[in-house]
Amino acid sequence: MQAREIFTSFMFRRAIIFVLLFLVSYAAIFMFIYWQMASFEFTRIKNLLEQQAHALSLAPEDQIHWSIKRQIYADLRQVTFSALFDRERRYIEGNIKAIPDSLPIDGMAHQVALRDLDENDQSLEPNLFVAQRLPDSRILLIGRSILDLGKLKEAVLQALQIGVLPMACMAIIVGAVFSRQMNSRLARAQRTLSLFQKGRLDERLPISGRRDELDILSTQVNSLLMELERVVNELHHVGNNMAHNLRTPLARVQASLENAQRLMPESEAAYAFVTRAIQSLEQTFALTTALLRVAQMESGKARGSFCLLDLSELIHEVADLYEPVAEAKGIALEIAVTTAKVRGDRDLLLEALANLLDNAVKFSPEHGSVKISLSQARSGPVISITDTGPGIPDREKSKIFKRFYRGPHSSQIPGNGLGLTLVAAIVRLHNFSLEVEDGPPGSVFRLRCVATPDVANAPSASEPRG
Ligand SMILES: Nc1ncnc2c1ncn2[C@@H]1O[C@H](COP(=O)(O)OP(=O)(O)OP(=O)(O)O)[C@@H](O)[C@H]1O
Ligand SMILES: [Mg+2]
Repeated sequence: MQAREIFTSFMFRRAIIFVLLFLVSYAAIFMFIYWQMASFEFTRIKNLLEQQAHALSLAPEDQIHWSIKRQIYADLRQVTFSALFDRERRYIEGNIKAIPDSLPIDGMAHQVALRDLDENDQSLEPNLFVAQRLPDSRILLIGRSILDLGKLKEAVLQALQIGVLPMACMAIIVGAVFSRQMNSRLARAQRTLSLFQKGRLDERLPISGRRDELDILSTQVNSLLMELERVVNELHHVGNNMAHNLRTPLARVQASLENAQRLMPESEAAYAFVTRAIQSLEQTFALTTALLRVAQMESGKARGSFCLLDLSELIHEVADLYEPVAEAKGIALEIAVTTAKVRGDRDLLLEALANLLDNAVKFSPEHGSVKISLSQARSGPVISITDTGPGIPDREKSKIFKRFYRGPHSSQIPGNGLGLTLVAAIVRLHNFSLEVEDGPPGSVFRLRCVATPDVANAPSASEPRG
């Protein structure tokens, strides 16, 4: 299967949508975790600062001094602030020289952005501060940087990025593998259905044995195909039985008419009617015979009589048969053959060639020309029958092989519309192929035979057939 087909397939597109949804939910989970952790940490620091400020405000004087000093010396990372101011907000001691303007003195923690303590760094740093008035009206200021919370966010985003790429790649690969598997199963099912459509009624959809939705659908379609095959076979059977059963009474009528004709003087008008009735009966016989031949062909019963055949010999034989008809219409019959052998049923191939030649002569106008040529292609011998008839329009090309189909230009020309049906059945039986093309005028029927690899071992046409 082509890579393009995989990537444009329904399954692959579903996989991509699934990947996108997965990534969005993955990112959402990470953001939720970050938000939870950040707000927990923020509340923890806030509570800690407020408790600490409150406890110090009740502590004796020396403990306040000691606590401010200890905090400053122990803070190697320089993330905490501790200072004491007089009632006029003037600095007494500590590692911050002024109370931030926007900070209320209410013993509660507030977020205040300060310039970094490093003088070269002009960026604003987020901090939490508590300003607590002491019983003697001095002001105690304690605070802590919450820059770490921003770092936590960066760490979470980094973890998200690291996880996204391998996960997206994996999902795309898994999607491609699944869609390849599914597409190849669908392609097999499509092949089967188109074979069924072409008349291979015994074809069934493959069942993988995985008991998945496709298996269930295939099983249902298969039972539908079985039913269709049964109905089609039954219809054929009824038609064939009718054709078969008609032959005996028709033969009796024909025999009676022939007896009556023998007893009748040729000059009487009734003689002409009887002659016409016998001709119509002969046509009906030809029709039933053709129908039964098609039925025999389609059931594959004729395959037993295959042997090695010389195609040029067959072509000469058929041409001899139609030479008088062509001559009567002033049609030039040209034969250009090489030697080629195929395996097949002699009578059936004669019948197929005779039908094709019959059409070519029948549909060519008077003084036209018909050519039969035999050439060798790489796949095997090719017989081409070219005529100067009206040709076959493209829209009709697929219909002419159907039972009883006759083109619009055939109404004045005798026939039952069964000749090409029979040819198609014979061609199928031999695994050959038949193509119709437009000729310079008229049409060209090309019968492509299969090369015979076992020419040396195969029995020849003169040997008894089995
Ligand atoms: N060589 C051809 N040139 C033009 N039209 C053709 C040719 N061969 C077949 N056709 C068209 O295909 C139709 C079907 O051909 P087919 O041989 O099955 O039936 P038929 O010749 O009409 O009757 P039958 O073969 O039963 O005597 C014809 O009626 C005709 O319209
Ligand atoms: Mg015909």
